[in-house]
Amino acid sequence: MIRIALLPGDGIGPEVVREARRVLEAAESAGWISVEFETFPHGADHYLATGETLGEDAFARLRDDFSAILVGAVGDSRVPDGAHARDILLGLRFGLDLFVNLRPVRLRSRDLTPLRLAESETIDIAIVRENTEGFYTGSGGSLRPGTAHEVAISESLATRYGVDRVVRAAFELARREGRRRVTLGDKANAVPHVYGLWRRVFLEIADEYPELEAETRYVDTLAMELVRHPARFDVIVAENLLGDILSDLGAGLVGGLGLAPSANLDLSGRGLYEPVHGSAPDLVGSGAANPMAAVLSAAMLARENGAAEAADRIEAAVDRALHAGIRTPDLGGDRSTEEVGRWIAEDVARGD
Ligand code: NAD
Ligand code: IPM
Ligand code: MN
Repeated sequence: MIRIALLPGDGIGPEVVREARRVLEAAESAGWISVEFETFPHGADHYLATGETLGEDAFARLRDDFSAILVGAVGDSRVPDGAHARDILLGLRFGLDLFVNLRPVRLRSRDLTPLRLAESETIDIAIVRENTEGFYTGSGGSLRPGTAHEVAISESLATRYGVDRVVRAAFELARREGRRRVTLGDKANAVPHVYGLWRRVFLEIADEYPELEAETRYVDTLAMELVRHPARFDVIVAENLLGDILSDLGAGLVGGLGLAPSANLDLSGRGLYEPVHGSAPDLVGSGAANPMAAVLSAAMLARENGAAEAADRIEAAVDRALHAGIRTPDLGGDRSTEEVGRWIAEDVARGD
């Protein structure tokens, strides 16, 4: 039994999490997985009503009582500084020490890429984003805010321990999945302290994996190469902020944010799963939100929790939906969030 905490959050979060849950329940009815859900109310509404962002009790329960957390999205214009979103999302990533943010970039149907690929080429990249350091620690401060003499400092932080463990995770993933190449994206030329550490640690660890090709790229060039030659990339590892940007770029190569799932992991089995996209305020209530990123995140959840068969079935159902034209408007279709979710769920439940 996989105990799953649902944190639908804001905007389209509840709309896409509803479909992800439907699909997991369909996998359960077909006998591929056994799940139990509890929904948490945290998000902008809850924050505005109670003043609580996440809260110690909820944090402790999410840490102790569940095998996995499935998040929709957090972010709401009524909370302009995003305080609740940082507390909830970064609070869980940091608080649970989920140091690997795995963001697969896979071309699931060839028409979905805006690029011209050769017949023999495809896109299948695992982006491993560091998830507990960099610019995201909140280190820094402001002096004289709101005045003409305002000073703002945000410090990026890298520790040898933190870089070592995530780089190692990237090489281990490459080995486990039979991939051939690991690329580091950094900015060691312009920002030598943090990215110099990254580069040294990366090259040291690369020596322990002689069967894998290891390469370093400045991230600006890497962004360009990703667009020109996406098929040559395999595993990409990067610091938190760079990985955030690269993963949206990657999503853009294979159909956009509506199709991009992610897993936040600590490699001991704990995990938080979420679409890469945000709360998409422009789509709320329109039925146009693509639930596939959330559904594919649920498949990652299933896989990490020992239900590989359920994960395979869900991914195959998403692929069949894409090929049958069961798509939301972001992918050129005219189906609603719920229609896509129901179609995938029925396909999974058929169990053939
Ligand atoms: P966004 O991902 O919400 O939207 C970017 C664009 O992608 C929009 O045009 C949107 O319509 C589209 N899009 C996103 N998800 C989609 C889906 N499932 N189907 C179809 N189209 C989709 O990013 P944003 O506009 O920069 O941010 C909006 C809010 O979400 C902000 O408050 C931001 O901080 C927050 N945010 C949260 C997360 C998260 O919870 N993990 C991630 C990113 C942004
Ligand atoms: C993401 C988002 C978050 C991040 C924001 C909402 C804090 O962009 O999950 O990619 O930067 O990590
Ligand atoms: Mn992002």
